[in-house]
Order: sequence, then C-alpha cells, then structure tokens
Amino acid sequence: MSEQNLQNMADLVAHCKQRGFIFQSSEIYGGLGSCWDMGPLGVELKNNIKNTWWKSMTNRTDVDGIDAAILMHPTVWKASGHIDNFTDPMVDCKSCKGRFRADQIDLTAPCPTCKAKDSFTEPRNFNLMFSTHMGPVQESAAVVYLRPETAQGIFVNFLNVQTTMRRKLPFGIAQIGKAFRNEITPGNFIFRTREFEQMEMQYFIKPGTQMEAMEQWKQIRWDWHIRNGLRPDKLRFKKHDELAHYADAAFDIEYEFAHGWGEMEGIHSRTDFDLKNHQEYSKKNLQYVDQMDGNKKFIPYVLETSVGCDRCMLAVMSDAYRTEFPGDAEKERVVMRFKPSLAPIKAAVLPLMKKPDLEGVAEKLLADLQIDYKCEYDTAGSIGKRYRRQDEIGTPACLTVDFDSLVDQAVTIRHRDTMVQERVSLDKVKSYLKDKFDL
Ligand code: GAP
Repeated sequence: MSEQNLQNMADLVAHCKQRGFIFQSSEIYGGLGSCWDMGPLGVELKNNIKNTWWKSMTNRTDVDGIDAAILMHPTVWKASGHIDNFTDPMVDCKSCKGRFRADQIDLTAPCPTCKAKDSFTEPRNFNLMFSTHMGPVQESAAVVYLRPETAQGIFVNFLNVQTTMRRKLPFGIAQIGKAFRNEITPGNFIFRTREFEQMEMQYFIKPGTQMEAMEQWKQIRWDWHIRNGLRPDKLRFKKHDELAHYADAAFDIEYEFAHGWGEMEGIHSRTDFDLKNHQEYSKKNLQYVDQMDGNKKFIPYVLETSVGCDRCMLAVMSDAYRTEFPGDAEKERVVMRFKPSLAPIKAAVLPLMKKPDLEGVAEKLLADLQIDYKCEYDTAGSIGKRYRRQDEIGTPACLTVDFDSLVDQAVTIRHRDTMVQERVSLDKVKSYLKDKFDL
C-alpha cells in the first residue's frame, strides 16, 4: 500500500471546510479577507494544542501564566517601538489599485495582478497595527490599538507578577491570546491572517545568560513540536541574519508547509529592550534587585518563545493529512493521523444498526466515555462509511456495538491508523483507550 502526504493547500482548505474544521469568516456575505472561523472540530483541535502548550509552560515551577487585555494604554506601543517601527514598505498599483509589499515584488516589472507597466507608487511605510477609538464620542476619544503581539501584556505586568509571586530570576510569564496585524499580503490559508492567536512566553534572565537560555529554550520548544507528532524531517531551525529592532539573537522553528518552508515559531533574545523602554516611558522603576548578589540592581534580559497557534495548527493538520492507496480504488482513504491526544474527537460510538437494544448499550457506553472524552455517536449509513468519516476527521478509535455485544458485553475497537480490530469488554473500554492511545 502506498500513501501520500498533503500535496497542496487547496486540498486541506477543502477538507477543513467539508469536515467542519475551518470556515471562511462571514462566508454567507462572501467572506472577509484572510479571516477564518474555527468550526466544531477546528476549535477542539486548537484548544487541544493550546492546552498542551499551556501545560508544558505552566507545569513548571519557574513559569506563571497571565491573560492580559487586548486593548492597552497607547503609550505601550510607543515604548515598544511598534508605532515607529512596526511597518512594511508598501506600493499601490495606480491602475488596478492592488497593494503589494515593496520587498516582495520586482518594482521594475509589470503589476503581478493587472500587468500594467510602470504603475507602482513610490514605496511608503505602512503600519501594521489596527487602531480603534476608546470612549463614547469618536472625535474626542483616545486612539487605541489592537495588540499586534501578546508579549507587551507580559512586559507591562513584569513587576506585578514578580512581586506577587515572589519570583527570583530566572522566571517566565506565559500567555495565550489574540493578536491583530493589518498584513498587506496575508494568505496561504491560516498561515498569515489579520487576526490570529499567539502562545508566548517571556523568560526573564540575568544579562549575560541569554545565549545559555536560548539553547535551553530552543531544545524545549523543538521537543514540544515533536511531542505533538510533527515529523522531525519537516522541522528545522533557521538562524536570523537580520534581527528585529529588539533582538540580539533569533532563531525560527520552521515547518515544511505545502507552500514551502515557513516560520512557525520565533525564539528571540530580546535583551532589556522592552523593560528598559517601559521604564523610561512609564517612569516606573522596573529594575530587579538581586538579593543573591549584593542587592545589585539591573533590568532583566528576556528570552522569548513565540508560536502562532493557528500556524501550529496548520502544521499539525498538514502533517497529519495522508491519502492511502491500497491498490483498490474502493478502499482509498484520507486519514488525519493526529496524535490521539490532539484529535478533536477521541472515540466514535457506532451501533451497528438502529435497533433499540444495540442503541441502549451504545448510549450507556457513550455516557460513560463522555465524562472524560469528546466523542461522536453515529448511526447513519454503512459501518464502512462511518469508519471513513472518522478517519477523515482523525478519530483514533471507533467502537462498534453489534449483536454479539448483547451476549458478550464487549465491543469491537477499530484503530484509525492500522484499521486493526480488537474485541474489548465494555467495562475495559475506558482503560483501553487510556493505555493504547495515551489519552
Ligand atoms: N512577540 C514576538 C512576535 O510577535 P513574530 O515573529 O512577529 O514575533 C511570532 O510572531 C509568531 O506569531 C510567528 O512565528 C507566527 O507563528 C505567528 N504570527 C505572526 N504573524 C502572524 C499572522 N499574520 N498570521 C498568523 N500567525 C502569525
């Protein structure tokens, strides 16, 4: 039997829509550019990814979590450098009004959309932050921004967390939340969107220890992606040669998406750039007093790990998507080989036929499993078709209740990846799922 990885993004986009993972935002109105809605299965998968990240970060004695507001004091963005530096160079086509990133197209060539010649405006800097107004009257209200990264919510709470949690360096603060960027060229499905979620952790350290911390966190973050089931040959580190305005070293973890290698996570040594600027703009003392070193005062350095939740989800889905060709077209199948703990649905309970006695057993089993797991219950169509549907959404186990179940008090458990079937007694199903699938 041969099998094929995901060949192009269009197949995944179609699969996600057909199977209830991801829908275009405001689809009945024709959609809204580069905004996507998580469907019933997408939200489960995304929550599972967020939960593993949250656990891996906060089930440590040196990291606390927070959940800061999206709207922040406007001076935050002055201090962080976003008002002055968070820009992309942009050109417009005077003919078709298309907008492009000046650094991504050949400005001497015709417009890529309408083919007009010499039609570009001069490049100008375009700030990627969305702004809105806070207060009841638009004219007099303050301009505020939708945060373009969650990190600043952590920096402005550095002192609050350090003092309330009685933290000594090194320690970290983790957060998951929405971020917004008015990207000029979004695309590739949920790879680059204008509204997305980040999972960020800022690790506060002594100056001079940043390279050690970089090596430590590069390994931790690599291992996390591998634990999520991503294939190592589809992952790589990429060192930044050009650094962002705040960094003195940076690596990306890249994944080989259907459209090519792309950044999934950034690991940045941000020095004391952010805290120093917040101290200057807020006039609050953000220095750390090192009681272990003669009460020396200094502004901590920061090692940041920042992963896009949606990009990570795109990698997990792309990696899991397989088409199997057993040589018999009838038996061809698409299967999402999620790591079971990430799968949106953990088990499907399938009474062989719509008969009250079979359904009675099945419903009882379902009620018991649902205490711990998200399950599906399906009575419609042939059992083969029902298995296929579960394969396509990545359910690790199908539990079939048949007429023998009424006699032997057991069900057939069919494995998603191997399609192997085993008979397991009803009272052992839960522990079987837990052991075999590590759920
Ligand atoms: N605090 C640092 C920071 O925000 P970044 O490299 O700009 O760094 C971090 O973003 C991660 O956020 C990226 O690696 C990517 O996974 C995700 N990300 C950034 N822009 C995105 C967008 N427009 N759509 C989806 N994810 C995005």
